[in-house]
Amino acid sequence: MDWKNRFAQRTTLMKRSTVREILKLTAQPDVISFAGGLPAPEFFPVARVQQAADVVINERGVEALQYSTTEGMPELRQLIADRLGFEVSIDNVLMTTGSQQGLDLTARIMMDEGDPIVIENPSYVGMLMALRSYDLEYIPVPTDGDGAIIDALEPLLQRNPKLVYIVPNFQNPSGTTLSLPRRKQLVELLAKYDIPLVEDNPYGELRYSGEPLPTLLELDAQRSGGIESGHVIYVGTFSKILTPGLRLGWVVAASPVIDKLVQAKQSVDLHTSTLDQFIAYETAKDGFLEEHIPQLCDVYRERRDVMLAAMERYFPEGVTWSKPDGGLFLMVTMPEYLDALELLDEAVRHKVAFVPGADFHVDGSGANTFRVNFSNAQPDRIEEGIRRLGALLHEAVAQVR
Ligand SMILES: Cc1ncc(COP(=O)(O)O)c(C=O)c1O
Repeated sequence: MDWKNRFAQRTTLMKRSTVREILKLTAQPDVISFAGGLPAPEFFPVARVQQAADVVINERGVEALQYSTTEGMPELRQLIADRLGFEVSIDNVLMTTGSQQGLDLTARIMMDEGDPIVIENPSYVGMLMALRSYDLEYIPVPTDGDGAIIDALEPLLQRNPKLVYIVPNFQNPSGTTLSLPRRKQLVELLAKYDIPLVEDNPYGELRYSGEPLPTLLELDAQRSGGIESGHVIYVGTFSKILTPGLRLGWVVAASPVIDKLVQAKQSVDLHTSTLDQFIAYETAKDGFLEEHIPQLCDVYRERRDVMLAAMERYFPEGVTWSKPDGGLFLMVTMPEYLDALELLDEAVRHKVAFVPGADFHVDGSGANTFRVNFSNAQPDRIEEGIRRLGALLHEAVAQVR
């Protein structure tokens, strides 16, 4: 059968994630890969999760292996609500299968074909994938070292977008963080123009320097008199603070949004894995995350610092990079005349990898940028990988001169 001619029209807009394809290329153990967004596996709390899994199977096995509600395990939703740090009801929390599902379901319930959406440029490629089949009109908001430039956003909101999508903390891919004044300004604008916003926050708790900032969810709830009357659809995850293999994320939003997401989720997977939710709850219920996250931050802070120092040492003049206060990524900008895809070819030959930046951009720019992950490699490998990249960058710059 010629399957290619049988697929639905909307699938023509789908394609595989470049990041995931590069990850396959770089899976050999001798490649120093800065390409993935992987947490450090040596700090996965394997023993703690095993102990939790034993307790779950021994004490609540039948319940944990049964179908459960679409909204998710009440105790886990309560734990998530409590960790947000302000008054949140579990009725406003929906468990999802990774935060990626929260993004995908949000796109399903909010976007009609061709709708306008305001999006940071560059932006998270997984959200771009979730949006792709709706053939949307992207309205890119420019960004700088303090995240999205909110002064530039106001005229864009006047075009009445269906949604604004923002990763406010240690953004993937740029590593930048939306400053407090800009957060406040943004929340004012959402109210003024009555526009909903998706706050995607997988990295907020991985802060290595600077002061923690309030979420847009909280600022907007304060301004609007609570989540029920607010504008923000907040998406969170255990992937970066516990382990990604559990595939546990959540959405926090006003009840009409949660209700519609529940309807959408029921056609996708009925509910998120009961067993995984039970194990995560058992793992986290006695304050484990409050011990574990600071330990992760210590490890990632060191790796970030090693990478920044190595870039300082090995990268040529004319190449710049972001200096994130947290998260897993930073972004390198080369002179306009260099192309990150060409550099990647060379880099893979020298057994080092990164993700070229063009795919993160919605306006065709970014060919001279690339994303680098600093959480997954040991410090000596980071140093060596950046040394190799630096040598290639020196060569590339010298060839053009
Ligand atoms: C900005 C952003 N949002 C969402 C996700 C999805 O994470 P998960 O589905 O594992 O929760 C990621 C993963 O890297 C991400 O970087």
